[in-house]
Amino acid sequence: MHSPLGLTLLLVLYAASVSAGSLDGIYGIVNRRIPQHSNGFTFELTNGTGDAFVVSDTRGHSGGITVHLSLAINMEVAFISLIFSFSYVTEIGGVDIWWTGSRLHELPSPLPSVGAPLTGSSIVPYRYHFNTVTFGYTTAFWTFDKWSLLLDWLALRGVNLPLAWVGYEAILIETFREVGLTDADIRSFLSGPAFQPWNRFGNIQGAWGGELPMQWVNDQLALQKQIVARMVELGMTPILPSFTGFVPRAMTTLSPNASIVNGSQWSGFPSSLTNVTFLEPFDPLFPQIQKSFIAKQQAAYGNVSHFYTLDQYNENDPFSGNTSYLASITSNTFASLREADPEAIWVMQGWLFFNSLAFWTDERVEAFLGGVPEDDSMLILDLYSEAQPQWNRTNSYFGKSWVWCELHDFGGNMGMEGNLPAIITGPIASLNWPGSSMKGIGLSMEGQELGNEIVYDIVLDQAWSPSALNISGYVEKWVSRRYPVKSLPPAAQKAWSLLSTTVYNNQNPNTQATIKSIFEKAPALTGLANITGHHTTIISYDTNSTVLTALKLLVQASDQNRALKDIPEFVFDMVEFSRQLLANRFLDTYGALVETYNSPVSTPNQVSSLGDVLLDLLQDVETLLATNENYLLSTWISDARQWDHGNASYGSYLEYNARNQLTLWGPTGEINDYASKQWSGLVGGYYQTRWQSFLSYLVGIKTTGEAYNATLIAQDMLAIGEAWDRRTWGTRQGETSGTKGDTFEVVTSILSRWA
Ligand SMILES: *[C@@H]1O[C@H](CO)[C@@H](O)[C@H](O)[C@H]1NC(C)=O
Ligand SMILES: *[C@@H]1O[C@H](CO)[C@@H](O)[C@H](O)[C@H]1NC(C)=O
Ligand SMILES: *[C@@H]1O[C@H](CO)[C@@H](O)[C@H](O)[C@H]1NC(C)=O
Ligand SMILES: *[C@@H]1O[C@H](CO)[C@@H](O)[C@H](O)[C@H]1NC(C)=O
Ligand SMILES: *[C@@H]1O[C@H](CO)[C@@H](O)[C@H](O)[C@H]1NC(C)=O
Ligand SMILES: *[C@@H]1O[C@H](CO)[C@@H](O)[C@H](O)[C@H]1NC(C)=O
Ligand SMILES: *[C@@H]1O[C@H](CO)[C@@H](O)[C@H](O)[C@H]1NC(C)=O
Ligand SMILES: *[C@@H]1O[C@H](CO)[C@@H](O)[C@H](O)[C@H]1NC(C)=O
Ligand SMILES: *[C@@H]1O[C@H](CO)[C@@H](O)[C@H](O)[C@H]1NC(C)=O
Ligand SMILES: *[C@@H]1O[C@H](CO)[C@@H](O)[C@H](O)[C@H]1NC(C)=O
Ligand SMILES: *[C@@H]1O[C@H](CO)[C@@H](O)[C@H](O)[C@H]1NC(C)=O
Ligand SMILES: *[C@@H]1O[C@H](CO)[C@@H](O)[C@H](O)[C@H]1NC(C)=O
Repeated sequence: MHSPLGLTLLLVLYAASVSAGSLDGIYGIVNRRIPQHSNGFTFELTNGTGDAFVVSDTRGHSGGITVHLSLAINMEVAFISLIFSFSYVTEIGGVDIWWTGSRLHELPSPLPSVGAPLTGSSIVPYRYHFNTVTFGYTTAFWTFDKWSLLLDWLALRGVNLPLAWVGYEAILIETFREVGLTDADIRSFLSGPAFQPWNRFGNIQGAWGGELPMQWVNDQLALQKQIVARMVELGMTPILPSFTGFVPRAMTTLSPNASIVNGSQWSGFPSSLTNVTFLEPFDPLFPQIQKSFIAKQQAAYGNVSHFYTLDQYNENDPFSGNTSYLASITSNTFASLREADPEAIWVMQGWLFFNSLAFWTDERVEAFLGGVPEDDSMLILDLYSEAQPQWNRTNSYFGKSWVWCELHDFGGNMGMEGNLPAIITGPIASLNWPGSSMKGIGLSMEGQELGNEIVYDIVLDQAWSPSALNISGYVEKWVSRRYPVKSLPPAAQKAWSLLSTTVYNNQNPNTQATIKSIFEKAPALTGLANITGHHTTIISYDTNSTVLTALKLLVQASDQNRALKDIPEFVFDMVEFSRQLLANRFLDTYGALVETYNSPVSTPNQVSSLGDVLLDLLQDVETLLATNENYLLSTWISDARQWDHGNASYGSYLEYNARNQLTLWGPTGEINDYASKQWSGLVGGYYQTRWQSFLSYLVGIKTTGEAYNATLIAQDMLAIGEAWDRRTWGTRQGETSGTKGDTFEVVTSILSRWA
């Protein structure tokens, strides 16, 4: 039997050396999340092939669980035991770990027995997670506590290949110093804490709102050491950064003969902040810097991975489209990685092939990928497989390995949306395609807002089933463990079964993404509604018979079984459905307002009263969101400020970064509202202010008969944004950091007003 003392010893050993093939990861999770059962489990290893597991009862020991694990070739042992624990806790224990929190501690006592052994095996070697930009939109200000929960969530869902970008700048700065760049040169290149992913991508360079402090860089390095160690303990292989070629401008004066070009302009930024300087990989300096970077990284984290993330042309077109140029870029880049690490595998996002479709002709893609020898030397993330796959036009990436990814939640926007049929059948069809080089399934969402979790769960679970999962059966089990009460009222199941065939059955690739609510966009008379693409504002379902009906069903369920009111995920879902109802009503009312304003026979009063309805809706959204801890602007801001070491001016800098990403996204609204959120404090303090100003303008000109001036409105909105970004949370009345009000009372009032 495994004793608590043994567990303690194991953890101490781990701290001394991160060793592959240990069971520390699984005992770590049990100890963290299910401490009352810390000696209820026994894990054993047996040999096998592939990622597979068997779970069975311990013979002769009632209430104990023994796991006979198949040990996969070349895989970390601990990892497989995590998969076991997930299938046991979910399938038998009826509990789960959610983005809203871990409920594993609610595993029953005594532990339920397994009965017939549970088995499982993965259909792909890699289960991938993250997008480079998730490190900006979601985790930018996280401390290790939040990371720890997410990493346990990943481990239990079978992810074995996560991206690990945190702390990149610390290693990069050391590398740049070594080649002779000064600290001033380097500082002018780096971007602020909320914008690092786009600096890493070579989309932007430099900062607005202040230079990046070394304090931030050092704190992030310390955090990355914890993250990487935990990933390894959990049996995952982190995908680590590498040198991409993007360098400070001063490199051209430091090495005047080096082959250096400027990248393209990104998203309307002035060239001082974009057109990032790029050292071409065929220059001898490139491999020299690569070797230095990777050696420093190995020294910092240990030799824990051969996977390197490296993107040079993400939303940034190459200097030349000449196919021999493109092939020389990849062959030299790859050679530099192999010089630094003889087993290096290059991981690349495939977004460019969709985003810059006109540039990336089949011929260019083939030349570019063909520069890298051997198919398994590269792993392409087919980033948007459910809506805009590129593997099928590139002949399975011309043989290179690739991962089927689900892309969602652009900018961390919130909106209920999904295409469940595509995400269960897509990966299977791609895998079975003759000549397929698909090697993984994963999630590449831009942000990880807490709604739509069902979409993400089903993608990762599909990686363990050779045939497409049964959606209705899956949803039923998912709801049962999400709302783990005795005698769950059928109404709760009905709510989700309805959504799964409507809201989560969006098969239009032009509206597949989180649906952005128009009240988060800068108010205007045109350009808000009916937008397609990945910031779509089109609602693809009928609200009354779906979201509204589902909300009423949840209310009915909680009236029938009041225990539901204490389940955090249930309360979260009530808020989420209500939020979507109000957002959809706003869109309808806005349509009526525009029509009324444009009508020659309408009166200013008619415009004004529709405007009042819009403001009422926003007030109700604000009141609703304030009731739930998961929808607070104050959390984002305090997460940013928690890194300030008690230095108020550093705190203001961090808060500016946090606010500016949500709003103007750039010094002067370069990608305005791209990362908008429905959070209490942001809806009431910002979106409402903008709509008030817009609506009073509209009523005013309807009265005087003046022409609508779009430029004037845009200037007004920018001014409101600039002022808001400079504010400090807590300096206005009512700005607190906790929740306010009771969700169930607020939902009742919303239903009485907006059903
Ligand atoms: C698995 O097989 C290898 C090679 O036969 C052996 O060295 C190892 O001890 C076995 N491991 C377990 C856990 O049985
Ligand atoms: C750059 O190239 C020129 C011409 O070949 C040469 O004269 C000069 O010394 C080189 N400079 C450096 C810094 O290598
Ligand atoms: C790159 O941009 C900088 C700054 O705008 C400019 O001075 C330089 O000439 C550009 N370099 C090239 C090769 O275009
Ligand atoms: C920036 O890139 C754009 C193309 O995207 C180009 O037209 C412009 O000349 C570049 N500017 C600099 C300074 O390199
Ligand atoms: C990592 O591997 C390199 C060789 O690739 C070796 O030189 C270095 O000592 C190793 N570092 C550690 C920390 O094991
Ligand atoms: C591409 O570049 C190569 C090598 O510089 C050159 O020989 C070739 O003519 C170029 N092709 C085109 C189409 O410009
Ligand atoms: C690839 O698959 C998508 C989605 O099924 C489809 O829309 C697209 O036309 C396909 N492309 C090619 C070249 O077959
Ligand atoms: C899917 O599961 C449901 C039960 O939840 C069952 O009624 C249905 O027949 C299953 N469908 C298929 C295709 O197996
Ligand atoms: C939905 O319900 C609202 C409120 O009852 C009503 O005004 C609206 O017409 C309904 N919409 C549809 C499409 O039925
Ligand atoms: C959006 O498109 C629909 C259908 O074409 C139209 O009825 C509606 O008026 C449009 N909404 C706005 C605000 O333009
Ligand atoms: C406080 O932060 C500001 C801005 O980052 C920095 O300039 C200053 O040196 C810091 N002060 C101390 C005492 O660390
Ligand atoms: C619209 O507003 C802008 C900014 O205030 C102003 O410069 C412009 O003259 C106005 N246009 C008209 C047609 O009034």
